[in-house]
Amino acid sequence: MRDYYSIKMRATLEGKHVSGVERIVTKEKIPEVVSQLPLRPNQFDFMNIKIEKLNQINFIEKSLNVKTIKVESVEMANNVALEILQTVGIHRELAEIYIKMLHTGAATDKGNMRGAMIVSLKGERLEKDKDRGVRTVNVDFENREEVTKLLKEKGYTERTVDALALSTKNLYYPDILAEYCISDQPDYTTGYVATKTTYYRILNLKDYGNPKGGRIYFVKEDTDIDRLYQYLETKAFLIKTLGDLE
Ligand code: COA
Ligand code: AMP
Repeated sequence: MRDYYSIKMRATLEGKHVSGVERIVTKEKIPEVVSQLPLRPNQFDFMNIKIEKLNQINFIEKSLNVKTIKVESVEMANNVALEILQTVGIHRELAEIYIKMLHTGAATDKGNMRGAMIVSLKGERLEKDKDRGVRTVNVDFENREEVTKLLKEKGYTERTVDALALSTKNLYYPDILAEYCISDQPDYTTGYVATKTTYYRILNLKDYGNPKGGRIYFVKEDTDIDRLYQYLETKAFLIKTLGDLE
């Protein structure tokens, strides 16, 4: 078995998180990746690059399939998102409450959370810290260049590569039923909903100019929260190939 290293970059500007990226690579690729990461954020006044050898690596054969949904309005886009969530057993009224929270600032000070919200089918919020939430880390595509090329050919962006990797790890966990995501960047209005099979990239999922965003992981009622955190924060995965693209 080859040795793999996780390289994590995070950057802030005036104390605010502006960029975060992760790669999992073999040792000889570290210098190349490290030299690329400072180019990611447009602006920053602090950057942290962390390199860790992974004790164990797991493989996921295929990412989620990817579909794009184009609708005209934010209302229609969220309606589609809610319909998708309903197909996997998430009550519409319940999902609406938490989705609205993301759009208006889900942290206790009405800012953005630093990670994802976890919501059970009963409607309980299960994060240990409601401002921090939980962050999914330790995941990448085994052949990132190839996957990026294929996605870009179909009009997707690097952002989709990162979000698809993260979401594929999330949905690989049996207790996570679905994910909803909107970016916290005011000019990026495309979001997604993911289910066990498919990553639905949805245009116009939030209002242009809104600086609020976040993620919701919808989980089964009896989810063991410590095990879920352990999976999301510590288990390392490489995804071998891309699912179907549409
Ligand atoms: N958002 C906001 N703040 C973040 C953050 C994020 N994504 N990631 C880290 N921070 C800040 C927090 O203040 C955090 O403190 P906390 O644990 O009390 O919240 C602090 O940085 C240290 O966090 P840590 O977990 O030690 O960071 P790290 O050096 O291990 O890096 C990242 C983690 C940045 C790689 C990871 O969070 C990330 O963003 N991964 C990429 C996600 C991605 O691909 N998203 C899809 C793009 S569409
Ligand atoms: P981004 O996809 O980077 O625009 O992030 C959108 C929102 O998702 C952020 O505001 C956070 O609330 C949340 N988030 C960011 N990184 C992670 C992560 N690694 N895992 C889970 N949630 C995250």
